[in-house]
Amino acid sequence: MNKRALITGISGQDGYYLSKFLVEKGYEVFGLIRRNSNNPFYRFEDNIDLWEKINVIYGNMRDVESLNRALVISKPDEIYNLAALSDVGVSFECPTETMEINYHGVGKLISEAQRLFPKSRFYQASTSEMFGRTNPPQNEESFFLPVSPYAEAKLRAHTDYIVGYRKNHNYYSSSGILFNHESPKRGEKFVTRKITLSLAKVKAGLQNYVQLGNLDAKRDWGFAGDYVEAMWLILQQENPDDYVISTGVSHSVRDFVNISAKVLGMKLTWSGQGENEQATDGEGNVVVKVNPKFYRPNEVHDLLGDSAKAKKILGWEPKTSFEELVEMMVESDKKYAEYLKGLAENR
Ligand code: GDD
Repeated sequence: MNKRALITGISGQDGYYLSKFLVEKGYEVFGLIRRNSNNPFYRFEDNIDLWEKINVIYGNMRDVESLNRALVISKPDEIYNLAALSDVGVSFECPTETMEINYHGVGKLISEAQRLFPKSRFYQASTSEMFGRTNPPQNEESFFLPVSPYAEAKLRAHTDYIVGYRKNHNYYSSSGILFNHESPKRGEKFVTRKITLSLAKVKAGLQNYVQLGNLDAKRDWGFAGDYVEAMWLILQQENPDDYVISTGVSHSVRDFVNISAKVLGMKLTWSGQGENEQATDGEGNVVVKVNPKFYRPNEVHDLLGDSAKAKKILGWEPKTSFEELVEMMVESDKKYAEYLKGLAENR
């Protein structure tokens, strides 16, 4: 009989790649979706065949009855909890909502899962943000020093529910401590997609410049399509555990801008410092500016993962290099910007 998986947060970037991966493995996939006025299959628009194979269940992480219903309908062998308020910057503005979804929501889901399906296996999307200010490289032994409401809530969920249910309730609960993972399906407000989409629009003549916050922040950026395989491998192990998933290479936001511009054939020249830093293209047009509005009240400066444990135990390694990732995202946004330009011209 086919295995059954319940994915919360299926309409996000990782939900897309994970459901594709599991459907290809022959799983019957159930996806929890929070009802709002946006198109629920936005990320699946170029793969409607996949969308049609997913059993959609409406509900959300605050509503325990909807979680109960999702579990009863899906009867899952494996549960992947990807639902979250995932924007670190926004979490400073909505700390209570962040705690409700990213902490209490996990508690609601895991307690129902353990009660109704004690033999199910639970994957939690933990995050490198939990390391916060801990010096890189970070691995499973590193201290957690969270500096945002997002990271605080994720760390509490990790400690109380994932490690807690594993130790105290004998329930199979594991986590992937994933470093940043990106793709052409990344939300447009995360810095990587903001850069690739905005620069592609600049190149197409649809906007003049992109405004960014802290250009010095460093992140370990991998490809989301590679990382969902790690999620699955984590649940195939005999014993539940936590694994850092990363590439082991980090770059600054400024590096990401430079490589994206290069793929677009733009040569950037940087000048100024701090809030006055900017980059001009070959024709002297300012195409990148700093706007302090995008600074965070508290920043994680340097994330760089050491995923030696995942390599040794899961046999997992990233397949896509940083340069390949940037190129994939820029090429996709170049097409999208050209499509938008065509629409504007035909209006
Ligand atoms: N979003 C954004 N927008 N970030 C900017 C900007 C900007 O205009 N300018 C600079 N940055 C910096 C942020 O301050 C941060 O240091 C870095 O770029 C990355 O920001 P995001 O892309 O928003 O991602 P994140 O690292 O905060 O969080 C992402 O990765 C985590 C895993 O480490 C999210 O996907 C989290 O949900 C995830 O847990």
